[in-house]
Amino acid sequence: LPKACIFDLDGVIVDTVPAHYIAWKSIADELNIPFTEKDNEQLKGVSRVDSMKRILAIGNLEKSDEEIEALTTRKNDRYVEIISKMTPADILPGVREFLHVLAEAGLKVALGSSSKNAPTILKAVGLSDLFQVKVDGNHISHSKPHPEVFLLGADRLGLHPSECVVFEDAISGVQAAKRGGFPCVGVGLPELLHEADLVVPDLKDADLTIFKRLPSFA
Ligand code: G6P
Ligand code: MG
Repeated sequence: LPKACIFDLDGVIVDTVPAHYIAWKSIADELNIPFTEKDNEQLKGVSRVDSMKRILAIGNLEKSDEEIEALTTRKNDRYVEIISKMTPADILPGVREFLHVLAEAGLKVALGSSSKNAPTILKAVGLSDLFQVKVDGNHISHSKPHPEVFLLGADRLGLHPSECVVFEDAISGVQAAKRGGFPCVGVGLPELLHEADLVVPDLKDADLTIFKRLPSFA
């Protein structure tokens, strides 16, 4: 078994992907930039400012740092308004049960999220206490696919990356895990997450047998 698991937040623990999309879409619409759910797929795991820059690039628009700051603030206000109604009912199926299985088996649990809203969300859904280590967008300077968020998590756990399994729904997140030397379970579609060591559709019914399906723990 691994010694710890590091979980991404958005799209793995809670389904905030639609809320991010709605908020970005409203900003893109104001700027007359065509922005689709397929574009949004590429933004998963990417920091707020980098996401804004990618959307501006789709529209071939250039904005000053001050304008980007104003746009991302507006996006976040809309996002926070949507997620302010989150409750424990918004935890994705199987996640709470899986976290308890891990704790009972003596594995440590950590968060590795690009989101600056992560502490608020974990508190709102009542999962904060289940994570021994929490690394989020407030602690890092390089967004996924850079491995910083996971490397910092492993460091705070006092473990080597090979001893921690990363759970990720984002292409950029899987890449970050692999670049950092972590075994990685992709949560989502195999077509998108083919760089992961194993892909599962969700964490429904997840238990310790999942690790046997990873080459390094088979
Ligand atoms: C996660 C999400 C991204 C989001 C990023 C920053 O990685 O998948 O869609 O842009 O966090 O989130 P924040 O809450 O800080 O704007
Ligand atoms: Mg995610």
